[in-house]
Amino acid sequence: MNNDTQKNIIACLGDSITYGHGVSATRTKDAWTFVLQRMLGDRAEVLNFGINGASASEGCPESYRRTGLLDRALRSGAGTFILMLGSNDTKDRIWNAQGYKMGLRGIISDILRLQRDGSDLPKLFLMLPPAMFALEDGQTAYGVRADLLVNEVIPIINRLAQDYCLPVIDLYSVTKDHPEYYLEGVHPNAAGNLAIAKAVRAATEDWLKTTSEKTMTDYKTLISSVKAVTAECPNLISNLANVSALIWEYMDDLNWAGFYLMENGKLILGPFQGKVACTEIEIGSGVCGTAVATGKTQLVPNVHEFSGHIACDSASNSEIVVPIRKDGKIFGVLDIDSPTLERFTEEDKDHLEELVRILQTTLFG
Ligand code: SME
Repeated sequence: MNNDTQKNIIACLGDSITYGHGVSATRTKDAWTFVLQRMLGDRAEVLNFGINGASASEGCPESYRRTGLLDRALRSGAGTFILMLGSNDTKDRIWNAQGYKMGLRGIISDILRLQRDGSDLPKLFLMLPPAMFALEDGQTAYGVRADLLVNEVIPIINRLAQDYCLPVIDLYSVTKDHPEYYLEGVHPNAAGNLAIAKAVRAATEDWLKTTSEKTMTDYKTLISSVKAVTAECPNLISNLANVSALIWEYMDDLNWAGFYLMENGKLILGPFQGKVACTEIEIGSGVCGTAVATGKTQLVPNVHEFSGHIACDSASNSEIVVPIRKDGKIFGVLDIDSPTLERFTEEDKDHLEELVRILQTTLFG
């Protein structure tokens, strides 16, 4: 037994849906465990113990226990477990309601046995498998059966969750109206994996306390520091340099923070913190150029889904860009990047717009 289980090490146990078979070519980017990792950033470590073909039922060659991954997950130091097995069990060759129930019960008790007296670790989340869709010929790929999933597997998981007082993450509801989330009706594609990662994140948020707690910025202090620092100094570049340093200091989980300024109809790199960045951005291009073209703040939860995003630093996953005005015209932008997906919230947007308003007043009167 591992004595050092950590809440923020998350072990994901399951079959090919957890492994990421539907996105095998881009698995470490698109499989839901990897997306979840990017959503949680350095606040958690997400371990993928998914393996193609695995079933919960013990008597068959594909039994999860036989793969050795259960033992590895139990020894991984994880204090949070997410378990999803059942899709493969619905194959005619494997299906046996009693065998499925006993197999799943065995895995659940092995995980809960890691619990030490008085500890609330590990926490185990049971996941209802995603829906399955038949192909054009009316068959479901791999011989899995949607009727058994709905009428047997899901009720058994719900029942076990009740017996053991475990939370359930319902991927069935998340996916049942979305055949477009799939590669071939069984394995989720990138969009399906993203939807799963979001559901897992939402369901585990309270337990992991990975919401705003750590990324909550002390905007009151940040903004009063911006006022104090810029009030003394008449030089634009010095002020912007110091403001980027303050943002860098007060905001967690960033990989770039700084300014682009309008010059001859283009955005030109200004003072910043972070890695070397592109020096010119055309209006209308990228997130920054779009902020100028629309005159509106761009809050981008996932830069990879923003068409035309300019990747200066490949570590960036989310971004916020606020336009800066002088005499009613766009003067430049404040651009902030994070390696964590969905790092910036509406609250961040409100506060950063306030910061920019204050900056405009100090800089331009
Ligand atoms: N990502 C930006 C380019 C600037 S870097 O993030 C510093 C964009 O798409 O406009």
